[in-house]
Amino acid sequence: MTLQLRVYVPPHPLIKHWLGVARDAGTPPALFKSAIKELGRWLTYEAAREWLPTMETTVQSPLSECPATFINPEVPVVAVPILRAGLGLLEGAQTVLPNASIYHLGIVRDEKTLEPTCYLNPFPEKFDPLSRVLITDPMLATGGTIMKAMEELTFRGIDASLVRIISVVAAPPALQKLSVAYPSLNIYTAIIDEGLNSQGYIVPGLGDAGDRTFGTF
Ligand code: URA
Repeated sequence: MTLQLRVYVPPHPLIKHWLGVARDAGTPPALFKSAIKELGRWLTYEAAREWLPTMETTVQSPLSECPATFINPEVPVVAVPILRAGLGLLEGAQTVLPNASIYHLGIVRDEKTLEPTCYLNPFPEKFDPLSRVLITDPMLATGGTIMKAMEELTFRGIDASLVRIISVVAAPPALQKLSVAYPSLNIYTAIIDEGLNSQGYIVPGLGDAGDRTFGTF
C-alpha cells in the first residue's frame, strides 16, 4: 500500500498495552472505556508534537528573567469527536488539550450500504484557517465516515495539513481514500490492521467500539 499521507504508529509501550486491553473480547465495558481514554491521551500527546503552535516570551523566575515557551493562545485548537465512539478518545484528548473547543459531529453509517449521513453538525460557517483540528474516531474502516468529516471541515476553511486524526485501529480502505483526497493529512493510530470483513468490521480489530464503550450489545 503506497500512501501519500503520513500515518504514525507510535512505538510506545503504553499504547501497545492499552491496545491489547481494548482488543481483548473479555475486557468489560468500564475497562474498555478506560483503555480507549488512555489511548486518546497518548495518541494526542504524540499528535501535538510539531502541531500545537507555540510562542516565545520571557518569565521572571525566582532568580532572574529567562526565556519561556508557551502554547500560543491566539491560535484556535478544535477537537472533533465523531459520535458516538469518538467520545472515548476525546476524554483522553482533553487531558492533553484542556482548552480545545469541542464540536461533536454526528455521522451514522447505514448498516447495509455503509454510506455515511451527517445527523449533527455544529460547525461555524467558517473556521479560522489557522485552526488546529484534532478528529477522534477509534475505527478507520471503510473510510466513509472520516471522509465525510474531512469534507465538512475543509468546506468550512480548515487546512487538511493542520488536521490530526487519532484512531485506535486503521484499515487500508480508509487510509487509501484519505491519502488520495488529503495527501497532507497526518494520522496517529495505535495499529494498522489487515482489512475488513463482509460487514465492514476491521479484522482483527476490536469489534464495535461504540457498543463496547457504552455497554450496548
Ligand atoms: N466501527 C467499529 O466500531 N468497528 C469496526 O470494526 C468498524 C467500524
